[in-house]
Amino acid sequence: MSAQPFFDELHAQEDPFGYRSRWYEQRKRALLLASLDRAHFERGWELGCSNGVLTEALAPRCQRLLATDISPRATFQARRNLSHLSHVQVHCAQHPQQWPAGRFDLIVCSEMGYYLEPGELAPLRDGLHAALRSDGLLVACHWLPAFSGRTCRSELVHERLGQGLQETFHYRDADFLLQGWSWTSRSLARDEGLR
Ligand SMILES: C[S@@+](CC[C@H](N)C(=O)[O-])C[C@H]1O[C@@H](n2cnc3c(N)ncnc32)[C@H](O)[C@@H]1O
Repeated sequence: MSAQPFFDELHAQEDPFGYRSRWYEQRKRALLLASLDRAHFERGWELGCSNGVLTEALAPRCQRLLATDISPRATFQARRNLSHLSHVQVHCAQHPQQWPAGRFDLIVCSEMGYYLEPGELAPLRDGLHAALRSDGLLVACHWLPAFSGRTCRSELVHERLGQGLQETFHYRDADFLLQGWSWTSRSLARDEGLR
């Protein structure tokens, strides 16, 4: 059964997850943005963008940014909310069944992987790794406690996505897990000649 009607129903509300209203969400976004080791990326992709609040926060850090979501209603809202940003594109797509063309130096999978069936995680990983440039950063961020609608554990999502990559950062608290991976080890201090 397609998950699309479920997410379309959720997006009957303008901000179904409280991205604009909750300090919890603002802080989590700030942590995610602060963990990106490059000031600027050439081509970013956020999958599962909902109404585009995180996409808007990522936009100043990307020359071009793609945002995708399974829900036509969510993509309508995101497109409208991001219409002032000409370098941001929003497409309706279900992952891992559908993939955007091209490769990215930033991929953000935030609060979306736990909606997939466990058997979809390996295809998701393979597709994301194929889309990740050799200098790219893959970021995942997921809520840890149980909730209705979850189809797999957040730890499993991160374990799968990180397989075969080097971990570049790791943050965990009582509520969520935030991790980043790349093909080779990275050090901003090394890049800036501090070590
Ligand atoms: C909780 S929101 C996350 C929004 C944003 N990424 C963030 O972290 O602030 C999850 C979004 O993922 C979308 N989604 C769920 N399963 C998906 C799939 N298989 N393919 C694409 N989008 C999906 C939902 O429609 C929903 O808008």
